[in-house]
Amino acid sequence: MRRIRINELKNGMVVARTITDSDGRILLRSGIQLNEGYIDKLRNLGLNSVYIRDAFNDVEVHDVISDKTRLEAIRVIKDNFNALENQHKLNIRAVKTMVDQIIDELLADLTVLVNLNDIRAFDDYTFAHSVNVAVLSIMTGITLGYNNLQLKELGVGAILHDIGKTRIDKDILSKTGDLSKEEFDEVKRHTVYGFEILRHYPDVSLISAHIAFQHHERWDGNGYPRGLAREDILEYARIVSVCDVYDALLADRPYRASYTVTQALTILKRMGGIFLDKRCVDAFICNIAVYPIGSVVELSTGEVGVVVDVNKESPTRPIVRLVIDRYGGRLQRLQEVDLSKYTTVIVARNLGEEAVQKLLS
Ligand SMILES: [Fe+2]
Repeated sequence: MRRIRINELKNGMVVARTITDSDGRILLRSGIQLNEGYIDKLRNLGLNSVYIRDAFNDVEVHDVISDKTRLEAIRVIKDNFNALENQHKLNIRAVKTMVDQIIDELLADLTVLVNLNDIRAFDDYTFAHSVNVAVLSIMTGITLGYNNLQLKELGVGAILHDIGKTRIDKDILSKTGDLSKEEFDEVKRHTVYGFEILRHYPDVSLISAHIAFQHHERWDGNGYPRGLAREDILEYARIVSVCDVYDALLADRPYRASYTVTQALTILKRMGGIFLDKRCVDAFICNIAVYPIGSVVELSTGEVGVVVDVNKESPTRPIVRLVIDRYGGRLQRLQEVDLSKYTTVIVARNLGEEAVQKLLS
């Protein structure tokens, strides 16, 4: 299966991953064959891309956490945002249960890399984003050798890092055009509001509350709200910054389509040592499949194939099932190369949708 953009969808393509909203309602079921009506529906939902089946549809992609846990976590975050907006209290116990569940699932299989970008509608952006940032932050924490208590503190702060947005006018948050200086200053205040909210809960550690406070601080001191720099920023907050930036780059937003994994990683690396802590960027990148399962790549030999598995020890060297030989002919025999074993061959580039369509026709 592959993730492709809405404007590249065609009649007859088959949905490969069920699409749900944050309440777990199914919008489009896996296995549905697309027609104009469905494609319009997807467009109206504000989705920009979808996973579809193709000639490589036997390639299975495992998410780092189960769909069930992801959806439950998104719902818990949504309920908590709603509770605050209605002057009710946060349900910290539910949040902690979710964070524990995510930690357990991530620790259960340390060989899995992040291969998937979940598909989400715009109204869910903040909730799905919060869960992604928590998952990515915990994975980074595991790479950095954190113990269970540290992972919990990090996870709670990461999943609630934007909770301060509940105090900001919805019209400002959803504005797609340019913000005035006053409006932008108000948006920035979600960090302070988040800290204010969380520090009043005795069962939230103060260090978790500080993640909300500091997640927009930047390594070089050019962040907000206080302009802290380098080690004056908590390491937890430096991790969450990396994951926050990465997930935002991968998301489809109303004003732009998402970046590819390769583009987003390049941007992150460039930010390392300037906006972001390089050590956290490096630990983060270990967990991302540079060439995700299902992506189609051209090798330095000129051969073309689909990524069928990834090597956590060498993320740039996936296992590739060859489809086209070096002379441009289609291979009849199934042939897989593990690039971690053939070190003279590298992935030359990720092929775009157009090239893949040509390959499949
Ligand atoms: Fe934020």
